[in-house]
Parts: sequence; structure tokens; C-alpha cells
Amino acid sequence: MNILITGGAGYIGSHACLEFLNAGHQITVVDNLSNSKFESLKRVERITGKQIQFYETDILERVKLNEIFSKNKFDAVIHFAGLKAVGESTKKPLEYFQNNVCGTINLCEIMKKHDVKNIIFSSSATVYGDPESVPIAEAFPLSATNPYGRSKLMIEEILRDLYRSDEKWNVVLLRYFNPVGAHKSGKIGENPNGIPNNLMPYISQVAIGKRKNLQIFGDDYPTKDGTGVRDYIHVVDLAVGHLKALRKIKDNSGLKIYNLGTGNGYSVLEMVKAFEKASHRKIDYKIIARRSGDIAECFADVSLANKELNWKAKRNIDEMCADAWRWQSKNLNGY
Ligand code: NAD
Ligand code: WQD
Repeated sequence: MNILITGGAGYIGSHACLEFLNAGHQITVVDNLSNSKFESLKRVERITGKQIQFYETDILERVKLNEIFSKNKFDAVIHFAGLKAVGESTKKPLEYFQNNVCGTINLCEIMKKHDVKNIIFSSSATVYGDPESVPIAEAFPLSATNPYGRSKLMIEEILRDLYRSDEKWNVVLLRYFNPVGAHKSGKIGENPNGIPNNLMPYISQVAIGKRKNLQIFGDDYPTKDGTGVRDYIHVVDLAVGHLKALRKIKDNSGLKIYNLGTGNGYSVLEMVKAFEKASHRKIDYKIIARRSGDIAECFADVSLANKELNWKAKRNIDEMCADAWRWQSKNLNGY
């Protein structure tokens, strides 16, 4: 199929590009490189020996986006483009709504104009807010605790309404849990700007000596060891989940929503231990106060994706840490 991948130069997008190319699809990436480097795509081309058509374009640029759709006949769009830093979103809510929500509306309008009505959207477990229980199933109540999460919820609603207005649309909302790890080659991986917000890239930077120690946000949660528990999922498993979702779309599946996680919860301290084992480096840490907005525990019920997409995450926590370490240790300063 001929696929447009927005945000394809980013962390998850670049891994998805690789899997889509290897599966024989033709791909075009639209990315404004606001949080990524073109180098990621060059490396994907080198690993796969296949080519990517690239446009350095903002999805807010209607005229350019329209031109891209006029020049290409896409079968489906995988929509990763978006801003994703929770803390930053509380300081710059308008930028987040403009970029994520208006960007998606723009994209969908142009898709509609060109009669491209298949879209897979990167949603997030953040749409479950603070869940009443775990594991979290797709039918759980939705809420948002910050502008980033609200932008994801709004986009989900917009895409639902779009489908209700015209059932020729096929929409798959994929709610990712905590993506970590990197491609086995060690050539592509997560490349955060500045101080990482997320646990895994922070631990990796402590391991290479770029940061002195990890600050663990609270050890008084009602969890196995008091630290926060999350469902970490290998980014390659996540990328494969998109391939399966695309297959689903081919059967005119309508509106579908799936959690993409492993179904297992690991604490911050368990992650530190697993990373030490993978890297043979000591990860110094200190416990500090809880981070505002954090929840105690979050992991997925993945039975729906297992059943309907025939998808299951295969890579365990040791592989996630080993692959993250390979990427980080071979690319001390990222791309
Ligand atoms: P990322 O920042 O690495 O990738 C996003 C890409 O989108 C970047 O390359 C960026 O340059 C591009 N982009 C942003 N705004 C754009 C715009 N207006 N026009 C064109 N390109 C634009 O992030 P990621 O971790 O790969 O996340 C991909 C998607 O998955 C995002 O929508 C994110 O919200 C969602 N998600 C991520 C996580 C996570 O923890 N990484 C979890 C759940 C959901
Ligand atoms: C994981 C655990 C922290 C950093 C975020 C977004 C979510 C989704 C994924 C996009 C928590 C602890 C972390 C550190 C720590 N993104 N931690 N010290 O918060 O589960 O989810 O990324 O959709 O929307 O909110 O991920 O990696 O930041 O934190 O102790 O320096 O690690 O408290 O328990 P989170 P995270």
C-alpha cells in the first residue's frame, strides 16, 4: 500500500517506517522536524535498503499538504505528528491545541478532499486519566489531567464524529502505554531534546554519565515497592501493532480502538535494576517528592488487540533495556 506517515522522523514514527518498508509498503513522510532529525530516516533507508519520500512540511500548512496529496495517491495515513511533553503542555496549552488538534483537523480535511479515508492515530494511555483499577480496558472512562492529554482526547472525539458523519472512514485509535527501547541495529532510537522527561531515556543518560543520577519521583505509592508502575512496551512491538491495524483497515473495519501495551506493570526500581543488568553500569538514584500529575499504577488489558488484531507484544523488559542501551551507548549524543 501507499502510506503517508506524519511525524515519521520521530521516535515511534521512524521505527514504524522501518517496519512498513520491510513489509513491502511504499511510504511518504511528512515531518516539520520540530522534535526530530532527518538523519533518523536516512538510517532507516540504510537499514532497509529502501527509499522514503520525505517532505519537510508542517501539517498545519494546508497549501503544501494539499499539494502532497495531489501528487500522491495514498491508501492510508498513519498520524504520529504531534507535540508530546506533558509538562510543556501545561505552560503552552495553546501551542499544544494548535499543533495537535488543529493539525489533525487540517490533515483530515485534506484527506477528505482527496478521498483518503483511512487513518491510524497515535493516542495514549493518558486518555484514561487516573484509572480506578488496573488492568485498563478500552471501555474504561476517559479523562485528561493536562493539556497534552486533553489534546489526545479531543482528537479521539473529532475522529469519532468524523466516522459517525461518514462511515466510509476507517479510523483506528491506538492507545500506547509507555514506549521504550530501540531497533536491534542500535542505529535508530529515542533522541530527546534537552533533559529527558521520560524514565527510560533519563536512565540511559545516567548510564552513559551524561546525568549524575536519576531522581525517582516518590516511593510512597500503593505499589509493590512504592514507586510508580507502568506498562513499558518495546517500540518495535508498537510499530508492528500499526502494521496489524493497517491490515484491519483493509477489511473496512470502521472505528476501532486498541490498547497497545504488554499487560505487565514494572516499577521504577524494577526498571533501574533491569537497566543495570543490561548495561553493566550502576544507575545512581535518589528518591525525591512525587511529580505532580503522576498516577500510581497504569497497565493495559491487551486482550482486544490480541483478539482482533492478532497482535501481542513479544519483547520483554530485558530486551527493552538491552536495545535502549545499545542505541544510547553507540550514539552518545543521539543523531
Ligand atoms: P516524537 O516527538 O519523537 O515524534 C513526533 C514527530 O512529529 C516529530 O518528528 C516531530 O518533528 C513531528 N511533528 C510534530 N508536530 C508536527 C507538525 N505540526 N507537523 C509535522 N510534523 C510534526 O514523538 P514520539 O514519541 O515518536 O510520538 C509519536 C506520537 O505518539 C505522538 O503523537 C505522541 O503524542 C504519541 N504518543 C507517544 C508516547 C511516548 O511516550 N513516546 C506515548 C503515547 C502516545
Ligand atoms: C514513568 C515512571 C514516573 C522520570 C508519560 C506521559 C504519557 C505518555 C508516556 C505520551 C513514573 C517515573 C520518570 C524520572 C521518575 N506519553 N519517573 N523519574 O509519566 O507514565 O507517561 O509518557 O502520551 O502521556 O505522561 O512516563 O516515563 O515520564 O514516567 O521517577 O526522571 O517513571 O514518576 O512513575 P509516564 P514517564
